[in-house]
Amino acid sequence: MVPADRERPAHALCGAGGRLAVAAGRGALGLAVALGRFRWAASAGRPGGNGWRPRARPEKNRDVTDSWMLDELAHAGPEHLDAAAVLGFDRKQGYPDAGPDLDALAALGLGPSSRVVDLGAGTGQFAIPAAARFGQVTAVDVSPAMLAALREKAAAAGLANLDCVHAGFLGYSHAGPPADGVYTRNALHQIPDFFKALALHRIAGMLRPGGVLRLRDLVFDFEPGQASETFAGWFAAAAADPAEGYTAGDYAEHIRTEFSTYRWLLEPMLAVAGFEIVSVEFERRLYGAYTCVRRLP
Ligand SMILES: C[S@@+](CC[C@H](N)C(=O)[O-])C[C@H]1O[C@@H](n2cnc3c(N)ncnc32)[C@H](O)[C@@H]1O
Repeated sequence: MVPADRERPAHALCGAGGRLAVAAGRGALGLAVALGRFRWAASAGRPGGNGWRPRARPEKNRDVTDSWMLDELAHAGPEHLDAAAVLGFDRKQGYPDAGPDLDALAALGLGPSSRVVDLGAGTGQFAIPAAARFGQVTAVDVSPAMLAALREKAAAAGLANLDCVHAGFLGYSHAGPPADGVYTRNALHQIPDFFKALALHRIAGMLRPGGVLRLRDLVFDFEPGQASETFAGWFAAAAADPAEGYTAGDYAEHIRTEFSTYRWLLEPMLAVAGFEIVSVEFERRLYGAYTCVRRLP
């Protein structure tokens, strides 16, 4: 039997969405990475490969320099930027089986030659098994600490078809052929709804027509008047030890400071971005799993 704290989905609360000065403390390489001038490849673990190579084209997206654009790093969630917290991340969120998500992509035609982008990839809980199944996986995350953990795991696994890009939903520039699939789990809620819609539009733009988006997140499938009652049930099932899982305090902080949205707002955003929702499952009216196909133009 799965331990109780592992039965919960990898809801991955992202803590306070407070503003954080994250530039401090970066070395020259870190700064270069933050500027998106380099991309790491899994060759780091192979003889002769230091893992760093210049990107084919600059990471920087013109949009992100606009004064109205969201500072994604400042909204990434402080614990995702903190190396010590990242060390405990997998234990806290549990180890959800990537199998159903891989199968959902495979059911719509993705296979050994497919290109998949994982946005907000974290420590690679999806990206690493995905690289074992699909042709090329690009793991994208705005947090240098998360990417460092992911790189370490990828190098240990010796995966040559997994690369890591330091960027966010709004800043990532997809290079090369369009993706066949995009995956994102428990990351889109970091950004407000206006920017979610923009992120979904950008995701549609990196997918080929007919490409698949598998989206999992904390999404609220209830009316505003049902919030207290729904949250009370959620909190009652929370972990007691914050090292072992998300506590009621973590959940409350998530609701207060992050941007989980309602199902009845998210689904129109997906439609406007050009997606057809082909399946949706909800758990406890709090966790949504969507499989969407990019409509033909
Ligand atoms: C709760 S973790 C989930 C990680 C991974 N998807 C998983 O399910 O194991 C959220 C991740 O989103 C990343 N993140 C936060 N804001 C982001 C943004 N604007 N763009 C891309 N990644 C972001 C965080 O750094 C963190 O790694």
